[in-house]
Amino acid sequence: MRELKITPIKNGTVIDHIGNGLALEVLRIIGINDLDKDSTVSVALHVRSQKLGWKDIVKVENMELSPRKVNAIALLAPTATISIIRDFKVREKRVVDLPERIVGIVRCPNPSCITNQKEPVESEFDVARRRPVVLRCSYCERLVDDFLLHLA
Ligand SMILES: Nc1ncnc2c1ncn2[C@@H]1O[C@H](COP(=O)(O)OP(=O)(O)OP(=O)(O)O)[C@@H](O)[C@H]1O
Ligand SMILES: [Mg+2]
Ligand SMILES: [Zn+2]
Repeated sequence: MRELKITPIKNGTVIDHIGNGLALEVLRIIGINDLDKDSTVSVALHVRSQKLGWKDIVKVENMELSPRKVNAIALLAPTATISIIRDFKVREKRVVDLPERIVGIVRCPNPSCITNQKEPVESEFDVARRRPVVLRCSYCERLVDDFLLHLA
């Protein structure tokens, strides 16, 4: 059945198959302040999904995501698909993919880590484990599994 819960958009980005309850985190990553003031953002929470049981969806007009934001979304919503809409049609669709390195998205929880000092050192983690995701700080080797609490 066609999905009719949200008005179609002419140009923009659809982030579908977001794990149930994670849409608000996705919005935080997108950064509402970065959006064009005349654009609509639609959020559907707790939508029935064949694949996931329940899912969230975010649709943003007139915006395409930077690679950094895509990586951040991959980190917290690994099941998400990102579709680029142009002239009402899906022009491009991809599943998000967790990158090898996570740069500048997560803060290291170790207060004495160099990335938390006055030095202008950007945070950097490699993926120590994929499912569930565990990150390892490239500087102090601190392991982080509750990275949602440490989003930069
Ligand atoms: N013009 C549009 N405006 C808003 N959302 C759209 C538009 N066109 C497609 N979408 C949404 O973009 C996503 C991808 O579209 P597509 O037609 O590929 O969906 P689909 O057939 O449900 O595929 P799947 O769920 O397997 O990714 C869906 O969430 C769909 O609802
Ligand atoms: Mg679908
Ligand atoms: Zn560290």
